[in-house]
Amino acid sequence: MVFYVLRNGAHLNLYEKRLVLFSGKGGVGKTTIATAFAMSCAQRGMKTLLMQINAKDRIGEIFDRNPIGEELVELGPNLFCVNSTPASALREYALMTLKIKIIYRAVFENKIVQSFLNAIPGISELVLLGKAYYHAAVEKKGGELKWDIVVVDAPATGHGIFLLKIPSVVTSIIDSGHMFEEAERMKELLEDSNMTSINIVTLLEDLPINESQMLLESLGELNISVDYIFMNRVLENPFSADEGNILEGDSAKADSITDSLLLAARFRKSRLDLQNKYLDLLKEKIKRRRISIPYFFEGVNNQGQLEDISQRMQKQLSSDEQ
Ligand SMILES: Nc1ncnc2c1ncn2[C@@H]1O[C@H](COP(=O)(O)OP(=O)(O)OP(=O)(O)O)[C@@H](O)[C@H]1O
Ligand SMILES: [Mg+2]
Repeated sequence: MVFYVLRNGAHLNLYEKRLVLFSGKGGVGKTTIATAFAMSCAQRGMKTLLMQINAKDRIGEIFDRNPIGEELVELGPNLFCVNSTPASALREYALMTLKIKIIYRAVFENKIVQSFLNAIPGISELVLLGKAYYHAAVEKKGGELKWDIVVVDAPATGHGIFLLKIPSVVTSIIDSGHMFEEAERMKELLEDSNMTSINIVTLLEDLPINESQMLLESLGELNISVDYIFMNRVLENPFSADEGNILEGDSAKADSITDSLLLAARFRKSRLDLQNKYLDLLKEKIKRRRISIPYFFEGVNNQGQLEDISQRMQKQLSSDEQ
């Protein structure tokens, strides 16, 4: 297999990475895209962990399960999901580090210590990222890494940037000790574009594109590169070029029966024109490869639709592998 090679030598094959994150503006479809991508990994036979970060879960319902929390849930063959909260991540992180439960209870379940921890900015992000790091690069089963790939449904832009920034913040304020070493390892993983892939989900609209650009720039400052832009809810064009021209001109004469159809077609055409304008803006502002996912008018609420999205993205992603 020949890979598309980035300027820094990293492969742009998302299926070759260990940690794949999706961020973007709130509500643009991060959870939908991350889940569909995780499904495509599982279908390829990869043992896949889909990690939600402190999310109001909607995956459980789609897969006919209870809301997904800190317990690992099997969604299907090779596909597992967890929804980590700062509290659960802190507990696991502390247990991994301290090893002994009794010490954890004495230290972390102590109210004074807890309020002290809550007051430290960034501690939640550090432990959540620490958990993603642990699953992607440390957790073993039978001598092998437990997961082939960890897909993270990351928080929206501002919080997402903060999450990814936290290792750099820690290593800039302390220079030795356990926390420093942990943060150094996380930073290395995030900056290693052979191992980690950050992807932005957007809509072809003004605000999501602006936020995407801000996210790209902020990550660039952190030395973290962005692989793909996933354009979600893209309107498909049902018109041939001739039909498009007719809709734009006066030649489309309507009688009373076709009036409303013509109005609907013209409305769709004007939405498509606007979408094309935003596509041009996106191309100009963000020079990254794009994946396009169509608009489902009824919303994305079931596994069949996620399967459809998963197939479409797989097709587009694998055309990059040749
Ligand atoms: N391609 C699509 N077509 C139509 N509706 C979609 C599409 N993708 C997502 N949606 C709908 O948009 C809503 C938001 O999607 P989703 O939860 O994936 O976004 P999000 O970015 O994870 O949101 P949040 O920032 O709240 O976590 C959902 O109701 C979902 O059904
Ligand atoms: Mg979400």
